[in-house]
Amino acid sequence: MSKPSPDTIKRVEELRSTLDEHNYRYYVLDDPGIPDAEYDRLFRELQKLEADYPELASDDSPTRRVGSSAETSFEEVIHRLPMLSLDNAFNEDELRDFDRRVRERLSSDEDVEYVCEPKLDGLAVSLHYEQGSLTRAATRGDGYAGEDITANIRTIPSVPLRLRGNDVPDLVEVRGEVYMPRAGFEALNSRLTDQGEKTFVNPRNAAAGSLRQKKSTVTARRPLEMCAYSVAVTDESLLPDTQWESLQQVQRWGFRINPEMRKALGVGECLAAYEELMQKRDTLPYEIDGIVFKVNRLDYQEALGFVSRAPRWAIAHKFPAQEELTVIEDVEFQVGRTGAVTPVARLKPVFVGGVTVSNATLHNMDEIRRLDVHIGDTVFIRRAGDVIPKVVKVVLEKRPENAESVELPKQCPVCDSDVIQIEGEAIARCSGGLFCPAQRKEAIRHYASRKALDIEGLGDKWIDILVDQDMVKTVADLYLLTTADLTRLERMGEKSASNLVAAIDRSREPVLWRFLYALGIREVGEATAKSLASHFGTLEAVAEADEEALIAVPDVGPIVAGHIRSFFEQVHNRETLDALREAGVRWQEEEITAGAKPLQGQTWVLTGTLTELTRDEAREKLEALGAKVAGSVSKKTTCVVAGEAAGSKLAKAEQLGVQVMDEQALLDMLKEHDLL
Ligand code: IVH
Repeated sequence: MSKPSPDTIKRVEELRSTLDEHNYRYYVLDDPGIPDAEYDRLFRELQKLEADYPELASDDSPTRRVGSSAETSFEEVIHRLPMLSLDNAFNEDELRDFDRRVRERLSSDEDVEYVCEPKLDGLAVSLHYEQGSLTRAATRGDGYAGEDITANIRTIPSVPLRLRGNDVPDLVEVRGEVYMPRAGFEALNSRLTDQGEKTFVNPRNAAAGSLRQKKSTVTARRPLEMCAYSVAVTDESLLPDTQWESLQQVQRWGFRINPEMRKALGVGECLAAYEELMQKRDTLPYEIDGIVFKVNRLDYQEALGFVSRAPRWAIAHKFPAQEELTVIEDVEFQVGRTGAVTPVARLKPVFVGGVTVSNATLHNMDEIRRLDVHIGDTVFIRRAGDVIPKVVKVVLEKRPENAESVELPKQCPVCDSDVIQIEGEAIARCSGGLFCPAQRKEAIRHYASRKALDIEGLGDKWIDILVDQDMVKTVADLYLLTTADLTRLERMGEKSASNLVAAIDRSREPVLWRFLYALGIREVGEATAKSLASHFGTLEAVAEADEEALIAVPDVGPIVAGHIRSFFEQVHNRETLDALREAGVRWQEEEITAGAKPLQGQTWVLTGTLTELTRDEAREKLEALGAKVAGSVSKKTTCVVAGEAAGSKLAKAEQLGVQVMDEQALLDMLKEHDLL
């Protein structure tokens, strides 16, 4: 490989600073300067130059952010200055005590100025920059020795690989928190769930797990951010006089600092800042577990010094915890509007995330198995933001001997219909449909909706009232309502009542497919309802069809067939249908077109040149016989009609063993069906 020309060297430098600049604007300032596509082009140009001229490679090149798949071992790193922890204040009194101690030690009667910083819930890291380049990143470890995680830290976009500006010291150490924003955490966990992998309990664990990856390419895909909260420079003359100013300095070097940060004079303003931040807590895009108060003047910090492992000049005022331990006393199953049967944990009441929680959703049986939840278990409950409380972990060591495993009930707890769980679906459902009180309103709403039986005037409001007053239990009861019944309801006038009765009456003779659709069988939409109606002709035939017969209908696969079967197997649903009949509902029978359409359910492909017919004519005639005409050949193709000079489609049909016919055979067949 040739040596890089001076122009190439210049271009590489130019690309690096442009990419650094845009990275900074995007991840630190949240103010993108160029479209992503342009960034990607520049990035690839740099990648290519670095690949072509390996001698130009550099550890602080933006291309290093993608990580490497080489496994790193995390070498021990001794911190030049120990990484201390913070004392906690759990209430106002403890904070006032802290402030009093500070003033006593400083022999000050005046209010002390503090910097108030959100306490991010992540991991502390120490970053070393030499001549402005990131050379070493380490975890806190035990405070004295941590682990070298430089390769992983380089992948975090808000960590500068090179410091910005002209006043960069030869050697500087910046400390801060690496954390995972809530949205990224949720997305990561749902990806892990989809992949059948273990999820993280909270964003902090997710951040820790991500930083501990042996391959930095994995870390690079994790949504981590970093926020700086302190600076230690070896050349102390470069240090500003206050914590506040040093954070402004760090920001100029290219770090993200927390925008919620503020100054407070005296403990009173600190308490106000605490309240204010607490109010904001749930709306922030990341988790915080408290607020840190730091004496602003650095000379005061020095004078105050440390006790054991915590500074005397700072304290963390904690917020109510978002995770607590409690016991699962029972697991009950709730039935939702759509029939979803959801397990809910009944908990020993526990104060978490600022409220007392006594229920937590367990989502579905997969979740119960994944967490291995038993009744009697001690569990971690998490309530963060305003999301509903969740069980995130079982403490296996605390499982009592009589802990009971959780089984999906066979019968709906509300209506006693069978609970069905279709293979491959996480959600179990009550098959009660029209009958189940939990699903009643939804079932009636669907039945009356425009695309179903279109009962004008029967809106959600009236459905609520009719069901709540027990006037309508199933859709059949609608037909028994009289004007006199309805006018007894508040705000139902004579006219609306008779209009509604008339509208209900008009729905007594639906065409079969609309009626089938109106029943609200899962996955039976309009198109499937139409296919069923024209295939079977009567409701009775649909109700009696076995799975095999159902699958023969175009549009119906095994899952839909399963839903149809279980609907008609339910005694309750049959009773409701009887009641509808008795109430005078007559769904019209449909002409069975399945018999008349000999190619129903088949897929045909036309290829090559036809001489007697155009392609379009041939397609129309095949469709008239019920076939679907497709453009490509697959195993599912029923027959390929090969005209002259047929090419690859014919070859494919032969290869797959699909039936092939020539034009003459097609013409004969069409004649047989009077189509020619
Ligand atoms: S200052 C000597 N500031 O809290 C001061 N820490 O409980 C040491 N933390 O290990 C830390 N946000 O991981 C400081 N604004 C902040 C912080 C913060 C989060 C974490 C940090 C530290 C832990 C101490």
